[in-house]
Amino acid sequence: MTINKHILLGVSGGIAAYKAAELVRLFKKQGADVRVVMTKSALQFISPLTFQALSGNSVHSELLDTDAENAMGHINLARWADAFIIAPATANIIAKLSYGLADDLLSTLYLAATCPVYVAPAMNQAMWNNAVTQENVEKLKRHGIGIIGPEQGDQACGEIGFGRLSEPVDICKHLMVALDKQALSPSQSLQGLNVLISAGPTREPLDPVRYLTNRSSGKMGYALAQAALNAGANVTLVSGPVSLVAPKNVHLIKVETAEQMHEAVISKALENAVYIGAAAVADYSPVIIQAEKIKKQDDQSSLLLRKNKDILADVAKLDKRPFTVGFAAETDHLEVYAQDKLVRKNIDMIAANWVGREQGGFDSELNALHVFWKTGDKKLVMTTKSQLAEQLINLIAERLHA
Ligand code: C5P
Repeated sequence: MTINKHILLGVSGGIAAYKAAELVRLFKKQGADVRVVMTKSALQFISPLTFQALSGNSVHSELLDTDAENAMGHINLARWADAFIIAPATANIIAKLSYGLADDLLSTLYLAATCPVYVAPAMNQAMWNNAVTQENVEKLKRHGIGIIGPEQGDQACGEIGFGRLSEPVDICKHLMVALDKQALSPSQSLQGLNVLISAGPTREPLDPVRYLTNRSSGKMGYALAQAALNAGANVTLVSGPVSLVAPKNVHLIKVETAEQMHEAVISKALENAVYIGAAAVADYSPVIIQAEKIKKQDDQSSLLLRKNKDILADVAKLDKRPFTVGFAAETDHLEVYAQDKLVRKNIDMIAANWVGREQGGFDSELNALHVFWKTGDKKLVMTTKSQLAEQLINLIAERLHA
């Protein structure tokens, strides 16, 4: 496999920095154009001349260097990259990335990059196992960063454990597969299209301290946002209250109530080619929101609720509406109810999933979907929500282009 891609390689200061030279050689062998960025401490381990000779490009290490900025400024360098890989990534650079610090060229490029980013950690096993490093790595994963390795084995410090940089051939293979996936077939691409996604639960206030809500975690909607980004779309994510971090590069609109979600989605709908309603919108909200906290009184109490507007159905009623996709979370008669919603709400596609079962559904890492459109259907088997999101986005793109 040879690729005609731009790979930006960030090298931070660890003993494994010498292995990055081999990486440059392997990337070049695959046909990639490679540029190398080094941190100050990486310069102590290996000479930039090595990388310059192997990549055929000058090496970047200064954030505020007028000559370098004239030749290719940091923003241009970030834009140039089709993939950004940091190998080796020390505990320090991982911490900086996870906190969004931008006090040198490499960390600034990370914030400016819009391409997929990969991190190959390398450090002493105790540093890798430290809870702070693990939290930082988890945070990067949540931001959609691909973590490659580390491997287990003998370390330069004489210890044995996880922390060795993955072998350059393995890192190269991983990146080539990822870049290959990025080169989606035209029918699976959403390149340049605007995609609107609503996600998470809504909160319907009863009084200043209480609200009605549901168990939706927002995971499916957020995974769809990431998958749509990966397929080349510009993504607007209208999100109810969740504890997730939105993928880098989405336009995030935070809302609380079904009413606010309705307003945000309808105001954006016509700017988008696709709308995916993955939110668990409250069907009803309290007719009266008490200004003061409701006091405990009688043994029994009742709430008067009013039906909320159906966002999905209202988007589908718009003239020149986007390709409209809904979800149906059901505890029974999944196929029947899903197909009924497809027709009743007059939408283009519906993704049905079971809820209230042992695996899958709300607040779970896994899910399975049965997707229906007017002329066909497809079952997507139980897998992680991110893989499922990728498959659903591919299917949406296929039907959109059909
Ligand atoms: O009718 P039901 O609530 O089961 O339909 C689920 C689908 O409708 C989901 O896609 C959900 O986001 C959407 N929905 C909506 N507005 C509502 C209720 C549901 O957009 N008020």
